[in-house]
Amino acid sequence: MTFTAEEIQALNDDLSTKTPQEILAAALDKVDNVAISFSGAEDVVLVDMAAKLGKPFRVFTLDTGRLHKETYQFLEAVREKYGVSVETTFPEAEAVQKLVDEKGLFSFYKDDHKECCAVRKIGPLRKKLTTLGGWVTGQRKDQSPGTRAEIPVIQIDGAFSTETNQLIKFNPLASWSSAQVWDYIRSNDVPFNKLHEQGYTSIGCEPCTRPVLPNQHEREGRWWWEEATQKECGLHSTNIK
Ligand code: ADX
Ligand code: SF4
Repeated sequence: MTFTAEEIQALNDDLSTKTPQEILAAALDKVDNVAISFSGAEDVVLVDMAAKLGKPFRVFTLDTGRLHKETYQFLEAVREKYGVSVETTFPEAEAVQKLVDEKGLFSFYKDDHKECCAVRKIGPLRKKLTTLGGWVTGQRKDQSPGTRAEIPVIQIDGAFSTETNQLIKFNPLASWSSAQVWDYIRSNDVPFNKLHEQGYTSIGCEPCTRPVLPNQHEREGRWWWEEATQKECGLHSTNIK
């Protein structure tokens, strides 16, 4: 089933005042082949909410090969606690081999992170998304004033839809603050990545993530050597105007 832009707009108008659980339920009901895109960070709340809805749901992750050991341990904890397969997509071996042979293991500190992210995240994401009709992300407006302030709760994915596969993207936590996410994690006893106990807020790959200091913005620990307002790796390129 495909949706017109008007239908998506009407759904967005309706869902934008609803709770994350209601938005997630709509995603699972209205679109075939939907999966939650799980980074091993605080978006675990979506997995917990989906489990409590009692509807079948899928979870996928992109293993870049550069994640922290704590993130791998956490992915396993989630698999066990919720009894769900965390479908894992790896980068294409040849593309990683070429990048590393030509530029070494830390080219992102010298060039910028986009080339490595293209190989380790975006290529694998594109491959995974061709198998899906919709994906659910943990993006929030308050994560990045420069790029995420206007994300809708539902949108046609303009970056990853193809001529033969319309892809719908859901952002059920769009209007939640970080504080609401953490209230949920604590009050529902949801497992979390142990790196959060060490000052990490937003967590990505190990070489490109560091803890933040009190009152630093949560994404300041991501790609900290680059310009602060445009910290997107391309997973959510529709956010960049
Ligand atoms: S990123 O673009 O900067 O890397 P961020 O870490 O803020 O993204 O995460 C935003 C959302 O993107 C997450 O809530 C999750 O849905 C998705 N996401 C990010 N990284 C991954 C990953 N490695 N695997 C699957 N989904 C991911
Ligand atoms: Fe590569 Fe860093 Fe991007 Fe991970 S976040 S894919 S290590 S540039």
